[in-house]
Amino acid sequence: MRRMRASDAHRRMIRETRLSPDRFIYPLFAVHGEGVRRPIESMPGCAQLSPDLLVEEASELVSLGIPAALLFGVPARKDAVGSESRDPHGAVQEALRALKRACPSLLLIADVCLCAYTDHGHCGMLNEHGFVENDPTAALLAETALSHAQAGADMVAPSDMMDGRVGAIRSALDAAEYAHLPIMSYAAKYASAFYGPFREAADSAPQFGDRRSYQMDPPNVREALREIELDIQEGADIAMVKPAMPYLDVIRAARGRFETPIAAYQVSGEYAMIKAAARLGWLDEQAAALESLTSIARAGADMIVTYFAKDAARLL
Ligand code: PBG
Repeated sequence: MRRMRASDAHRRMIRETRLSPDRFIYPLFAVHGEGVRRPIESMPGCAQLSPDLLVEEASELVSLGIPAALLFGVPARKDAVGSESRDPHGAVQEALRALKRACPSLLLIADVCLCAYTDHGHCGMLNEHGFVENDPTAALLAETALSHAQAGADMVAPSDMMDGRVGAIRSALDAAEYAHLPIMSYAAKYASAFYGPFREAADSAPQFGDRRSYQMDPPNVREALREIELDIQEGADIAMVKPAMPYLDVIRAARGRFETPIAAYQVSGEYAMIKAAARLGWLDEQAAALESLTSIARAGADMIVTYFAKDAARLL
């Protein structure tokens, strides 16, 4: 086997997986205001940004050859039903409008969820027992997706894990003349410990309990395939597995079963682990970042949502 590993030229010839910026989706955190940059401590290099600074970020993404950004909002106010998520003047909606105007070639994907907008931090509406109510939440998510479409989103990405929300969003978009807008569904999203830094970034930690009654149980893979199948039936154009590295087997299984494009989300904790180890001098950050992204692509992800997108694009 070593004959074909002899030089870089040999290795390039037989390389089975190639990374390119074409695969990357870069997450952005939108806040209200002007000139606002709030760095996220546990995610070095990432910050909450106001629309004017998001525009600068967006032109950098375009110049690096990254086709898409995924937008999260940090609202001015939170309430029990997450009203700002569907406010035409919400943080994400304002950001979408500014970005679409300044950077029309960048694909804008809006994350659809309530957790950053609710005062209790759960991904939906609660009943009197503190249980997240499924169908009323799906209706609010459909309204949220519609407000993103109206503000200029090119795609919506529900990340809440309610049943039937892809169908509800599809119907709402179709009824309002957004039949052309694709849905990237967080189809197999696990109740993971690796979201910790993100919850600081989006200020979205649940104030009581956890997300295990709606996000998936980490030991399961057949259940992930059922989730993906249902979302495809409801109209998902892209199915996502999240997190990525701890769930490479799920990505692989999804790739083997479905012809739908598969995305994977290398989440905040995966990013933070590499960053922190590199800071301590325990890992080579660039090599570890590229190896982690290569492994996610090798497992079968067509697209990778990653906080390393800009660094990796530069290296590639
Ligand atoms: C919101 C959402 C989460 C992430 C993306 N969308 C967090 C969660 O479910 O708590 C995680 C992203 C990351 O960790 O990078 N539902």
